[in-house]
This record gives sequence, structure tokens and C-alpha cells, in this order.
Amino acid sequence: MSKTKAAITGVGAYVPDYILTNEELSTMVDTTDEWIMTRIGIKERHILKGEGKGTSDLGVEAVKNLLKKTGVSPDEIDLLICTTVTPDMVFPATANIISDKAGIKNAFSFDINAGCSGFLYGLTTASQFIETGKYKKVIVVGADKMSSIVDYTDRTTCPIFGDGAGAVLLEPTEDENGIIDFKNYVDGSGRKHLHQKAGGSVKPPSHETIDAREHFIYQEGQAVFKFAVSNMADVAVEIMKRNNLNSNDLNWLVPHQANLRIIDATARRMELDKEKVMINIQKYGNTTDATIPLLLNEWENKLKKGDNLIIASFGAGFTWGAMYLKWSYSPKV
Ligand code: UT7
Repeated sequence: MSKTKAAITGVGAYVPDYILTNEELSTMVDTTDEWIMTRIGIKERHILKGEGKGTSDLGVEAVKNLLKKTGVSPDEIDLLICTTVTPDMVFPATANIISDKAGIKNAFSFDINAGCSGFLYGLTTASQFIETGKYKKVIVVGADKMSSIVDYTDRTTCPIFGDGAGAVLLEPTEDENGIIDFKNYVDGSGRKHLHQKAGGSVKPPSHETIDAREHFIYQEGQAVFKFAVSNMADVAVEIMKRNNLNSNDLNWLVPHQANLRIIDATARRMELDKEKVMINIQKYGNTTDATIPLLLNEWENKLKKGDNLIIASFGAGFTWGAMYLKWSYSPKV
């Protein structure tokens, strides 16, 4: 009997309506469309507007979209994992809030924070629950309201990020498709280059932390770039090698969308043609936990059963990793 594997059997997504263009950004900070397009590759990003709205409001829409598309009822879900760096509150977990808002009552749920690799960490965690045979329907939802921690007076970070959410359903499969292999890494010493200084237990919020603008993303761009380029490519190539895959065997690279130059460098190291690389950074920017499911949702109608995909990411932590999976369904005709 073949081993039970976890397969992605559906995807859903949501981005808020408001579009923040490079033109509008250049009225807020000293920047230009030309600089942002050349250095990062982003044209516009979506922003969640409205008092009292948070990450769960993005996540729940992606989950509802997923349930609608797959025809699965909220009652059937066994586990919901939310991956986010912008939880609604310090506690409880945003996963709990999303479950409540989506009417998911027979599941347990928790959050994972692994920076921009959160969705990959979430997929690998969820797959283990499926492989035990005990869990039949697991949702992983990656959601971030990055605009809540972006300093819109800092031109070095504000063009990069956007808001969004994406969700996948994982179910057991006995056939040759599904999640075949993954490798995740962490190097916590990298935290000095990318973090939020205040708001946690080391530096709880105070008038001083607010005056010092310490509740926003702090990023040393060049240092992060250097680690991201080498580590994301290395782990993608490692996964290819240990599964005896060459670039001809691969149908798609699904790379975290942080910077078009990082994506291009990863694809080059893998010797992949550009047509095999999913890219939508120009429309959404870096939505942190949502980039990978937003890609899968956008490409869903092009993906065929048996396609070989590699997902790769790098993010705050530092965290990075890659996953090899065989896609488990073709578009419905
Ligand atoms: O997903 C989580 C992980 N994060 C990442 O992967 C991000 C990795 N880092 C990056 O993507 C890039 O480092 C950035 C996009 C953040 C910055 O690009 P860069 O090519 O590394 O630019 P830089 O920081 O070296 O800055 C080059 C110049 C500087 O001016 P001087 O010192 O050369 O005069 C900056 O002040 O560009 C200037 N600059 C800008 N100019 C116009 C920085 N931001 C801007 C801006 N508009 N928005």
C-alpha cells in the first residue's frame, strides 16, 4: 500500500479593493515609479482600509472563497492553520478568529509566525497532520495586513509591502501526487536585519516606542537581499537534486514575491525558463504570508494534474525553505 500523502485539493484568495499605486506613493515619500520598478518590480499593491479591520478580515474572505470553490462545508474542516506576521491581536490566535468568522466549529486552530516563509512552514506542518491518517481536511490560510506595520514615511520599506490572503485545502491522497518532499531552515541570528522593535514582551508599547516609530518594520534591505538571494536559490536547488529533478522535469516555480531580482536569481540558479516562473509581484507587492497562495490561486486554471511544482521562500527570522509537490487536479472543464 502506498504511503498517505497530503495533496492540495483547492485554493482560494482575497485582496482588498483599494489599490495603492507607485504614483500615489511618490506623493507620500521621495520615490518614483521608475526606482520601484527597477529595484523591486512592483507597480501597485492592495491595501485594507476601514476602521477596525484586520488580518482575519482578509483571511476569512480567502477561506470562504476556498470553501465555495471546493464545495466543502465549514463543518468538515478538522484543522485550520493561519500563517501571519500581523495577527489581529497579540492573543488569541488569528486562526481562532478566522475559524469563528467562517463558521468552522469542528476543528482546532493555531497560528504560525515564520516571516515570509510562514505559508511554507504552514503547508509542511499541515501535511504532517494529514500523513498520520487522522486528519482529512486541513486549511492553511496565509494572511497579512502589512499596511498595519509599514511606516509610510520610510521610503526604503513602504513601496515593498501589500495586504492580502490566500488559502489552500489539504486532503489525503494515495496516488503519486501531493507533497513529496520539503526542507525548511532557520537562522535566528538574522533577526537583527529584519524585525519589529517594539510591541512584544521585550519592549511593550509605550509613548517612547511610539515616538521612536518602533512599531513598524525595520529592515536592512541590502543585508536581507544578500541572504535571500543565496539561501532561496540554494534550497530550491537542494530539493531538485535530492529528488533527481532537472529543469526540464519542472513545470512551475512558485517563489515568494519579495523582489523580482531575487525571483530571477533563483530561477537562473535552477536553470528554469521564465515561462515556468509564477510572478505577480507587480500587482500585489510582498504580501508576506499570502504571496504563495495568491500565485497558486491565479495560476490554478493553468495547473494540470501531475505537474511538478517547487515552492520556495525566504523571510524574517531568517527562515527559508523549499517544497516539491505534484499538483493533484486539473482545471474543471
Ligand atoms: O520578504 C522578506 C524579505 N525581504 C526581502 O527579501 C527584501 C530584500 N531587500 C530588497 O529587496 C532590497 O534591498 C530593497 C528593495 C529593500 C532596496 O533595494 P536596493 O537595491 O538594495 O537599494 P539600497 O538600499 O541599496 O538603496 C540604493 C539607493 C540609496 O541611495 P544612495 O545611498 O545610493 O544615494 C537609497 O537611499 O536607493 C535609495 N532608495 C530609494 N530611492 C528612491 C531607497 N529606497 C528608495 C525609494 N525610492 N523608495
